[in-house]
Amino acid sequence: MSAATLSSRITAPVPAIDAALASCIDRAAMAENLRDAIRYAVLGGGKRLRPLLAWHCAAAFGGDGAASLPAGVAVELIHAFSLVHDDLPAMDDDDMRRGRPTLHIHAGEAMAILAGDAMTVLAYQALEDVADAGLRASLTGELSRGTLAMITGQVYDTLGGVPASSRGESADRERLDLIHHNKTGALIRASCRMGAMLGGAGDAALRAVTTYAEAVGLMFQIVDDILDVTQEAAHLGKASGKDVAAGKLTFPGVLGLDASRRAVGEQRERAVEAAASLGERAGALVEIAEYMAVRTK
Ligand code: IPE
Ligand code: IPE
Ligand code: MG
Ligand code: MG
Ligand code: MG
Repeated sequence: MSAATLSSRITAPVPAIDAALASCIDRAAMAENLRDAIRYAVLGGGKRLRPLLAWHCAAAFGGDGAASLPAGVAVELIHAFSLVHDDLPAMDDDDMRRGRPTLHIHAGEAMAILAGDAMTVLAYQALEDVADAGLRASLTGELSRGTLAMITGQVYDTLGGVPASSRGESADRERLDLIHHNKTGALIRASCRMGAMLGGAGDAALRAVTTYAEAVGLMFQIVDDILDVTQEAAHLGKASGKDVAAGKLTFPGVLGLDASRRAVGEQRERAVEAAASLGERAGALVEIAEYMAVRTK
Protein backbone atom coordinates (compact mmCIF):
# COMPACT_ATOMS: atom_id res chain seq x y z
CA MET A 1 0.00 0.00 0.00
CA SER A 2 1.45 3.40 -0.86
CA ALA A 3 1.10 6.36 1.48
CA ALA A 4 -1.17 9.33 0.91
CA THR A 5 1.64 11.62 2.05
CA LEU A 6 5.10 12.14 0.62
CA SER A 7 8.15 11.12 2.66
CA SER A 8 10.54 13.80 3.90
CA ARG A 9 13.19 12.70 1.39
CA ILE A 10 10.79 13.91 -1.34
CA THR A 11 9.61 17.10 0.35
CA ALA A 12 13.00 18.20 1.76
CA PRO A 13 13.55 20.69 -1.15
CA VAL A 14 10.34 22.65 -0.40
CA PRO A 15 12.05 25.37 1.72
CA ALA A 16 14.64 25.91 -1.05
CA ILE A 17 11.85 26.05 -3.65
CA ASP A 18 9.88 28.57 -1.58
CA ALA A 19 12.97 30.72 -1.06
CA ALA A 20 13.69 30.72 -4.80
CA LEU A 21 10.07 31.65 -5.58
CA ALA A 22 10.17 34.51 -3.06
CA SER A 23 13.47 35.77 -4.44
CA CYS A 24 12.14 35.76 -8.01
CA ILE A 25 9.05 37.74 -6.96
CA ASP A 26 10.94 40.14 -4.70
CA ARG A 27 13.76 41.17 -7.01
CA ALA A 28 11.60 42.08 -10.06
CA ALA A 29 10.70 45.72 -10.67
CA MET A 30 6.92 46.13 -10.29
CA ALA A 31 4.19 47.96 -8.37
CA GLU A 32 4.22 47.00 -4.69
CA ASN A 33 0.49 46.17 -4.59
CA LEU A 34 1.03 43.87 -7.58
CA ARG A 35 3.96 42.22 -5.77
CA ASP A 36 1.75 41.73 -2.67
CA ALA A 37 -0.92 40.07 -4.83
CA ILE A 38 1.59 37.73 -6.47
CA ARG A 39 3.13 36.81 -3.11
CA TYR A 40 -0.38 36.04 -1.82
CA ALA A 41 -1.16 33.75 -4.76
CA VAL A 42 2.20 31.97 -4.92
CA LEU A 43 3.59 31.73 -1.38
CA GLY A 44 2.15 30.14 1.75
CA GLY A 45 0.14 27.34 0.17
CA GLY A 46 0.17 24.68 -2.50
CA LYS A 47 1.84 21.30 -2.61
CA ARG A 48 4.72 22.41 -4.92
CA LEU A 49 4.42 19.15 -6.84
CA ARG A 50 5.70 20.61 -10.10
CA PRO A 51 8.94 22.04 -8.63
CA LEU A 52 9.41 18.79 -6.70
CA LEU A 53 9.04 16.82 -9.93
CA ALA A 54 11.61 19.08 -11.60
CA TRP A 55 13.96 18.66 -8.63
CA HIS A 56 13.74 14.87 -8.51
CA CYS A 57 13.96 14.55 -12.30
CA ALA A 58 17.21 16.54 -12.17
CA ALA A 59 18.50 14.45 -9.25
CA ALA A 60 17.66 11.21 -11.10
CA PHE A 61 20.56 11.93 -13.45
CA GLY A 62 23.08 12.45 -10.73
CA GLY A 63 22.77 16.22 -10.96
CA ASP A 64 22.25 18.47 -7.98
CA GLY A 65 18.49 18.82 -7.52
CA ALA A 66 19.08 22.52 -6.84
CA ALA A 67 20.05 22.91 -10.50
CA SER A 68 16.33 22.46 -11.25
CA LEU A 69 15.26 25.57 -9.32
CA PRO A 70 14.94 27.94 -12.32
CA ALA A 71 12.63 25.37 -13.93
CA GLY A 72 10.71 24.65 -10.73
CA VAL A 73 10.17 28.36 -10.05
CA ALA A 74 9.14 29.02 -13.66
CA VAL A 75 6.58 26.21 -13.81
CA GLU A 76 5.16 26.96 -10.35
CA LEU A 77 4.62 30.60 -11.38
CA ILE A 78 2.77 29.51 -14.53
CA HIS A 79 0.77 27.00 -12.47
CA ALA A 80 -0.14 29.66 -9.87
CA PHE A 81 -1.17 32.04 -12.67
CA SER A 82 -3.37 29.29 -14.13
CA LEU A 83 -5.06 28.82 -10.75
CA VAL A 84 -5.67 32.56 -10.26
CA HIS A 85 -7.32 32.82 -13.68
CA ASP A 86 -9.09 29.43 -13.34
CA ASP A 87 -10.85 30.78 -10.22
CA LEU A 88 -12.05 34.05 -11.80
CA PRO A 89 -15.81 34.68 -12.08
CA ALA A 90 -15.62 34.29 -15.88
CA MET A 91 -13.97 30.88 -15.44
CA ASP A 92 -14.79 28.51 -12.53
CA ASP A 93 -15.93 31.33 -10.23
CA ASP A 94 -14.36 29.97 -7.04
CA ASP A 95 -13.94 31.74 -3.69
CA MET A 96 -11.44 29.44 -2.01
CA ARG A 97 -7.98 28.27 -3.08
CA ARG A 98 -5.17 26.72 -1.07
CA GLY A 99 -7.32 27.05 2.04
CA ARG A 100 -7.93 30.78 1.79
CA PRO A 101 -9.87 33.33 -0.27
CA THR A 102 -8.98 33.31 -3.96
CA LEU A 103 -6.93 36.26 -5.19
CA HIS A 104 -9.89 38.03 -6.82
CA ILE A 105 -11.79 37.83 -3.52
CA HIS A 106 -8.74 39.07 -1.60
CA ALA A 107 -7.51 41.81 -3.94
CA GLY A 108 -10.24 42.32 -6.55
CA GLU A 109 -10.79 41.00 -10.04
CA ALA A 110 -8.64 43.55 -11.88
CA MET A 111 -5.64 42.77 -9.67
CA ALA A 112 -6.16 39.01 -10.10
CA ILE A 113 -6.13 39.37 -13.88
CA LEU A 114 -3.04 41.59 -13.82
CA ALA A 115 -1.20 39.42 -11.29
CA GLY A 116 -1.77 36.39 -13.54
CA ASP A 117 -0.35 38.34 -16.48
CA ALA A 118 2.71 39.33 -14.45
CA MET A 119 3.32 35.79 -13.16
CA THR A 120 3.70 34.60 -16.74
CA VAL A 121 6.43 37.15 -17.34
CA LEU A 122 8.15 36.38 -14.02
CA ALA A 123 8.31 32.71 -15.03
CA TYR A 124 10.46 33.60 -18.03
CA GLN A 125 12.60 35.89 -15.87
CA ALA A 126 13.31 32.88 -13.63
CA LEU A 127 14.84 31.06 -16.60
CA GLU A 128 17.32 33.92 -17.12
CA ASP A 129 19.27 32.36 -14.22
CA VAL A 130 20.34 29.49 -16.48
CA ALA A 131 23.82 30.45 -17.70
CA ASP A 132 24.13 28.14 -20.72
CA ALA A 133 22.45 29.92 -23.66
CA GLY A 134 21.55 26.75 -25.58
CA LEU A 135 20.00 25.09 -22.55
CA ARG A 136 18.16 28.30 -21.67
CA ALA A 137 16.63 28.42 -25.16
CA SER A 138 15.50 24.78 -24.88
CA LEU A 139 13.92 25.44 -21.48
CA THR A 140 12.16 28.54 -22.77
CA GLY A 141 10.70 26.46 -25.61
CA GLU A 142 9.52 23.77 -23.19
CA LEU A 143 7.88 26.34 -20.95
CA SER A 144 6.11 28.20 -23.74
CA ARG A 145 4.79 24.99 -25.33
CA GLY A 146 3.57 23.77 -21.92
CA THR A 147 1.91 27.10 -21.13
CA LEU A 148 0.15 27.36 -24.50
CA ALA A 149 -1.07 23.76 -24.14
CA MET A 150 -2.38 24.54 -20.64
CA ILE A 151 -4.27 27.57 -21.96
CA THR A 152 -5.57 25.47 -24.88
CA GLY A 153 -6.81 22.88 -22.36
CA GLN A 154 -8.54 25.61 -20.37
CA VAL A 155 -10.24 26.81 -23.57
CA TYR A 156 -11.43 23.27 -24.36
CA ASP A 157 -12.59 22.82 -20.75
CA THR A 158 -14.39 26.15 -20.53
CA LEU A 159 -15.44 27.09 -24.05
CA GLY A 160 -15.22 23.89 -26.11
CA GLY A 161 -13.56 23.75 -29.50
CA VAL A 162 -11.92 20.33 -29.17
CA PRO A 163 -10.84 19.40 -32.72
CA ALA A 164 -13.33 17.30 -34.71
CA SER A 165 -10.70 14.69 -35.59
CA SER A 166 -10.75 13.45 -32.02
CA ARG A 167 -14.50 12.72 -32.12
CA GLY A 168 -14.88 9.04 -32.86
CA GLU A 169 -16.68 6.09 -31.30
CA SER A 170 -15.69 6.95 -27.74
CA ALA A 171 -15.96 10.69 -28.30
CA ASP A 172 -16.23 11.76 -24.64
CA ARG A 173 -13.25 9.67 -23.51
CA GLU A 174 -11.13 11.01 -26.37
CA ARG A 175 -12.12 14.59 -25.62
CA LEU A 176 -11.42 14.04 -21.93
CA ASP A 177 -7.93 12.70 -22.58
CA LEU A 178 -7.21 15.65 -24.84
CA ILE A 179 -8.53 18.22 -22.34
CA HIS A 180 -6.63 16.68 -19.42
CA HIS A 181 -3.38 16.16 -21.34
CA ASN A 182 -3.47 19.84 -22.21
CA LYS A 183 -4.90 21.67 -19.21
CA THR A 184 -2.92 19.74 -16.56
CA GLY A 185 -0.61 17.26 -18.27
CA ALA A 186 1.36 19.78 -20.30
CA LEU A 187 2.79 21.73 -17.34
CA ILE A 188 3.62 18.53 -15.49
CA ARG A 189 5.37 17.28 -18.62
CA ALA A 190 7.29 20.56 -18.83
CA SER A 191 8.28 20.34 -15.14
CA CYS A 192 9.74 16.87 -15.57
CA ARG A 193 11.45 17.48 -18.88
CA MET A 194 12.93 20.82 -17.80
CA GLY A 195 14.23 19.25 -14.57
CA ALA A 196 15.73 16.32 -16.47
CA MET A 197 17.38 18.67 -18.97
CA LEU A 198 18.94 20.69 -16.13
CA GLY A 199 20.10 17.42 -14.55
CA GLY A 200 21.92 16.45 -17.74
CA ALA A 201 19.60 13.74 -19.12
CA GLY A 202 20.45 12.37 -22.57
CA ASP A 203 17.91 11.79 -25.36
CA ALA A 204 16.88 8.23 -24.38
CA ALA A 205 16.47 9.17 -20.73
CA LEU A 206 14.46 12.24 -21.71
CA ARG A 207 12.07 9.98 -23.63
CA ALA A 208 11.55 7.82 -20.53
CA VAL A 209 11.00 10.96 -18.43
CA THR A 210 8.45 12.16 -20.97
CA THR A 211 6.52 8.88 -20.79
CA TYR A 212 6.60 9.10 -16.99
CA ALA A 213 5.45 12.72 -17.05
CA GLU A 214 2.58 12.14 -19.48
CA ALA A 215 1.26 9.27 -17.35
CA VAL A 216 1.59 11.26 -14.13
CA GLY A 217 0.04 14.33 -15.74
CA LEU A 218 -3.09 12.54 -16.96
CA MET A 219 -3.38 10.69 -13.66
CA PHE A 220 -3.11 13.96 -11.76
CA GLN A 221 -6.24 15.45 -13.33
CA ILE A 222 -8.20 12.17 -13.12
CA VAL A 223 -7.49 12.19 -9.37
CA ASP A 224 -8.45 15.89 -9.19
CA ASP A 225 -11.79 15.01 -10.84
CA ILE A 226 -12.30 12.11 -8.37
CA LEU A 227 -11.49 14.35 -5.38
CA ASP A 228 -14.06 16.90 -6.63
CA VAL A 229 -16.80 14.30 -6.08
CA THR A 230 -15.40 12.45 -3.05
CA GLN A 231 -13.88 15.09 -0.75
CA GLU A 232 -15.13 18.04 1.27
CA ALA A 233 -14.05 21.57 0.44
CA ALA A 234 -12.60 22.06 3.95
CA HIS A 235 -10.25 19.13 3.38
CA LEU A 236 -9.25 20.16 -0.15
CA GLY A 237 -8.83 23.87 0.63
CA LYS A 238 -10.88 24.62 -2.50
CA ALA A 239 -14.48 24.10 -3.60
CA SER A 240 -15.67 20.56 -4.30
CA GLY A 241 -18.74 19.12 -5.98
CA LYS A 242 -18.69 21.82 -8.62
CA ASP A 243 -17.68 19.95 -11.78
CA VAL A 244 -21.05 18.25 -12.29
CA ALA A 245 -22.96 21.44 -11.55
CA ALA A 246 -20.79 23.32 -14.05
CA GLY A 247 -21.33 20.64 -16.71
CA LYS A 248 -17.60 19.86 -16.92
CA LEU A 249 -16.41 16.83 -18.83
CA THR A 250 -14.72 14.75 -16.10
CA PHE A 251 -13.54 11.16 -15.66
CA PRO A 252 -16.11 10.26 -12.96
CA GLY A 253 -18.80 11.97 -15.06
CA VAL A 254 -18.00 9.98 -18.19
CA LEU A 255 -16.70 6.65 -16.82
CA GLY A 256 -18.04 6.53 -13.26
CA LEU A 257 -15.90 6.34 -10.11
CA ASP A 258 -14.77 2.70 -10.36
CA ALA A 259 -13.55 2.97 -13.94
CA SER A 260 -11.90 6.31 -13.10
CA ARG A 261 -9.99 4.62 -10.28
CA ARG A 262 -8.94 1.88 -12.71
CA ALA A 263 -7.75 4.55 -15.13
CA VAL A 264 -5.63 6.01 -12.31
CA GLY A 265 -4.14 2.56 -11.72
CA GLU A 266 -3.26 2.16 -15.41
CA GLN A 267 -1.46 5.52 -15.53
CA ARG A 268 0.32 4.81 -12.23
CA GLU A 269 1.67 1.56 -13.68
CA ARG A 270 2.82 3.29 -16.85
CA ALA A 271 4.59 5.95 -14.77
CA VAL A 272 6.27 3.49 -12.41
CA GLU A 273 7.48 1.36 -15.32
CA ALA A 274 8.98 4.37 -17.09
CA ALA A 275 10.69 5.55 -13.88
CA ALA A 276 12.00 2.05 -13.16
CA SER A 277 13.66 2.00 -16.60
CA LEU A 278 15.83 4.92 -15.39
CA GLY A 279 17.38 2.77 -12.64
CA GLU A 280 17.74 3.09 -8.89
CA ARG A 281 18.31 6.81 -8.80
CA ALA A 282 14.75 7.34 -10.06
CA GLY A 283 13.30 5.81 -6.86
CA ALA A 284 11.99 9.24 -5.85
CA LEU A 285 9.99 9.45 -9.10
CA VAL A 286 8.39 6.09 -8.31
CA GLU A 287 7.40 7.36 -4.87
CA ILE A 288 5.91 10.56 -6.30
CA ALA A 289 3.83 8.59 -8.85
CA GLU A 290 2.59 6.23 -6.12
CA TYR A 291 1.64 9.21 -3.96
CA MET A 292 -0.11 11.04 -6.79
CA ALA A 293 -2.32 7.98 -7.39
CA VAL A 294 -3.61 7.90 -3.81
CA ARG A 295 -3.39 11.53 -2.70
CA THR A 296 -6.51 12.84 -0.95
CA LYS A 297 -5.91 16.57 -1.52
C1 IPE B 1 -4.65 21.97 -8.89
O1 IPE B 1 -3.28 21.64 -8.86
C2 IPE B 1 -5.09 22.29 -10.27
C3 IPE B 1 -4.93 21.19 -11.22
C4 IPE B 1 -4.14 21.29 -12.25
C5 IPE B 1 -5.68 19.97 -11.04
P1 IPE B 1 -2.58 21.23 -7.51
O2 IPE B 1 -3.43 20.20 -6.80
O3 IPE B 1 -1.17 20.87 -7.77
O4 IPE B 1 -2.66 22.57 -6.67
P2 IPE B 1 -1.68 23.19 -5.56
O5 IPE B 1 -0.52 23.77 -6.29
O6 IPE B 1 -1.27 22.09 -4.62
O7 IPE B 1 -2.51 24.24 -4.88
C1 IPE C 1 -7.75 23.43 -13.64
O1 IPE C 1 -8.58 22.33 -13.51
C2 IPE C 1 -6.55 23.15 -14.40
C3 IPE C 1 -5.78 24.42 -14.57
C4 IPE C 1 -5.11 24.64 -15.65
C5 IPE C 1 -5.77 25.44 -13.54
P1 IPE C 1 -9.67 22.50 -12.37
O2 IPE C 1 -10.54 23.68 -12.61
O3 IPE C 1 -10.33 21.18 -12.15
O4 IPE C 1 -8.73 22.81 -11.11
P2 IPE C 1 -9.27 23.10 -9.63
O5 IPE C 1 -10.11 21.89 -9.24
O6 IPE C 1 -10.06 24.37 -9.68
O7 IPE C 1 -7.99 23.18 -8.82
MG1 MG D 1 -11.16 24.79 -14.24
MG1 MG E 1 -11.19 25.12 -11.13
MG1 MG F 1 -10.80 20.33 -10.29
